[in-house]
Amino acid sequence: MSANTIKHIASPLARQTLLDGDLTRPVAGKRPIRLLPWVQVVKIGGRSIMDRGAEAILPIVEEIRKLLPEHRLLILTGAGVRARHLYGVGLDLGLPVGSLAPLAASEAGQNGHILASLLAEDGVSYVEHDTIASRLAIHLSAARAVVGSGFPPFHHHEFPGSRIPMHRADTGAFLVADALGAAGLTIVEDVDGVYDADPSGPGGDKATLIGETSAAELAKVEGPLPFDRALLDAMATARHIERVQIVNGRVPGRLTAALRGEHVGTIIHTGARA
Ligand SMILES: Nc1ncnc2c1ncn2[C@@H]1O[C@H](COP(=O)(O)OP(=O)(O)O)[C@@H](O)[C@H]1O
Ligand SMILES: [Mg+2]
Repeated sequence: MSANTIKHIASPLARQTLLDGDLTRPVAGKRPIRLLPWVQVVKIGGRSIMDRGAEAILPIVEEIRKLLPEHRLLILTGAGVRARHLYGVGLDLGLPVGSLAPLAASEAGQNGHILASLLAEDGVSYVEHDTIASRLAIHLSAARAVVGSGFPPFHHHEFPGSRIPMHRADTGAFLVADALGAAGLTIVEDVDGVYDADPSGPGGDKATLIGETSAAELAKVEGPLPFDRALLDAMATARHIERVQIVNGRVPGRLTAALRGEHVGTIIHTGARA
């Protein structure tokens, strides 16, 4: 090939390392576009809602059904008691975190299948991660909502920081909501929101509800939280989702109020700025 047929492809990153932030920032520092700015992401707790069976699931299904004309929803489910049993057996056998993560994720998927079946007559179906990643727009043009697993598909690539997977359904739901540039993320639990201590733990009657806070403030709290701690790290570097709302799914109307922009439960401000 002679020299005058060589094509030079112009790229602002062609001639530099991707490891130097000062060089990449002018190109990569821009805010990404919002892919699906109209989708509301709702995460349904595995332990707090799904494990309770009909008593907790049917009222939330009814509430979601009534929300469908108003919102287009990506509903993501978490794992509960079956994943906890699996962690117990797997940890006892010495399985690494990368083996436990996909097994726990499969329970989040099972919970999603259950929820989707109950909403099937309204056109709702369960979709896999690859559909959420690349075909959500067409599915949500055909139906008002879809259900998926909240677990991020890190699976065998799960970070080895802990023997129990750090990136569970709360983190997964947040990462996908932020990547899609969704309208919002609401996390449905069995408590009114985030308290200064576990309201169901010893001395829980003295715990007080935190109405509004930030991911940075919550990172200073040493006690347990009603969501994965890794969610706080994801919130710190968010690009789109400016706030996450935690609501009580055992109280009818709370999810509806949150999606209508009312202050119910706990609002957590992330690191994303308008
Ligand atoms: N700081 C806190 N504020 C609110 N709830 C908390 C807190 N710490 C622990 N919890 C507990 O977390 C429980 C929810 O458990 P979790 O594992 O998040 O369920 P799920 O699997 O449904 O997300 C609540 O019922 C509550 O007892
Ligand atoms: Mg939770």
